[in-house]
Amino acid sequence: MFVGIDLGTSGLRALLIDEAQQVVAAKEASYDTSRLHAGWSEQLQSDWTDACIKVFADLRAEAPDAVAAIRGIGVSGHMHGANLLDAEGTPLRPCMMWNDTRSVEQAARLDATENVRDLSGNIVFPGFTAPKVAWVAENEPEIFAKTAKVLLPKDYLNFWLTGIYASDMSDSAGTSWLDVGARDWSGDLLSASGMRRDQMPDLFEGSDAIGAVRAEIASMLGLPEGVVVAAGAGDNAAAACGIGALGEGDGFVSLGTSGVLLTGRDAYAPKPASAVHTFCHAIPDRWYQMGVILAATDSLNWLSRNVQESPADLTKALGNTINGPGKMRFLPYLSGERTPHNDADIRGAFIGLDIASGHEALTQAVLEGVTFALRDNLEALKSTGAKLDQVIAIGGGSQSPYWVELIATVLNLPIALPKAGEFGAALGAARLAICAAENTDPVETMTRPEIDQTIQPRSDLRDDYEAAYAAFRNSYSGIKALQS
Ligand code: XUL
Repeated sequence: MFVGIDLGTSGLRALLIDEAQQVVAAKEASYDTSRLHAGWSEQLQSDWTDACIKVFADLRAEAPDAVAAIRGIGVSGHMHGANLLDAEGTPLRPCMMWNDTRSVEQAARLDATENVRDLSGNIVFPGFTAPKVAWVAENEPEIFAKTAKVLLPKDYLNFWLTGIYASDMSDSAGTSWLDVGARDWSGDLLSASGMRRDQMPDLFEGSDAIGAVRAEIASMLGLPEGVVVAAGAGDNAAAACGIGALGEGDGFVSLGTSGVLLTGRDAYAPKPASAVHTFCHAIPDRWYQMGVILAATDSLNWLSRNVQESPADLTKALGNTINGPGKMRFLPYLSGERTPHNDADIRGAFIGLDIASGHEALTQAVLEGVTFALRDNLEALKSTGAKLDQVIAIGGGSQSPYWVELIATVLNLPIALPKAGEFGAALGAARLAICAAENTDPVETMTRPEIDQTIQPRSDLRDDYEAAYAAFRNSYSGIKALQS
């Protein structure tokens, strides 16, 4: 038996699978995010460990024999968060999360520092770890002075489980401290933000074992002795492991709160200026690249809140199949944008509102706007030399047949929909646990899911959507000028 834990933004999910990767049980517990000031986003580390204790109690209640037979645990987590610990390993403040944007100034300064983009392979985005710690150094110097270690969110959970300071390559790549090509901490990047190597955890590949669960935690969680803990992965790399997207051209489009278009890469091919993220994969000698938009289903949820209709009802009203773009354009920059604009200040817009525009037209514009933003991501990925052959759609938005056909047409790519079942970050984390505990080959362990259906682009409507995409693409500079 193996457990994959996904430390998500709104809650923790544990998935228990057997040797044949069949699901035995899955449990979840949620926690809150505190937003003390505009742009701040923090979580308490104790909420994560409490959630972990609760899901193990729930797993034990449902499948006691299976829990007693667990051999490995893998953890995936939301990326980029900064957990500052003192010399005893106690958190000095709550975690500053991936969507905490208070460190815009520090990020811009680090991003402009010589060699930083070259070594880290990425823009220093305000959500990344290094600028957040720089913010602490400037605004909470007493905390910075006591900081003995900085851990990413899932590494904090692994530290609680094992007592070991460890991280994996995929998550560490999002700190702006890792030399992503060399898969090692960079002395230059660390000193650019006033950090030292001894404040960093030891590095492992995600599929490697970092150690075993500590005896006192094992008895609290009801685990047998010697359960192996994998180094784990950042959530996007773990999701890629969950659907077997490991190599060149294997990718997914994730329609969650944020939107991600990701592809595996066999070699390191960074292009920071494109605002594409180039990170190490969770298995050795592989990388992945992704474009990230900050509001995918978040845009639809925003509309839903304002027109008081559920997202499912809004999308259902459009029918199951597309019939050409609407006249209205929506720019989905409700929380700023990462790829391709790297613009934390830009905000969204509707363009072309008509006296007759109702809920349906607004919904269509929102889905089209998010899809055009994903197309921007595809263009950015292509500019690095990446090529996507077919992508698997995952995340809540992939439930809408209309949206999936729209994405297939606008990206001009077949979109595969997996059969119902497990294929997300928790499964990827459980697969990393199998590799770590059983020493299996990651490529053989991380198979592709069974595909239910593949949605083809609508060639009859391509030109119309292409023209609408061109109008979308041109709108950013106009809106930017108006908002400056
Ligand atoms: C990736 C990113 C998010 C978080 C939260 O760069 O910021 O996907 O990992 O899921």
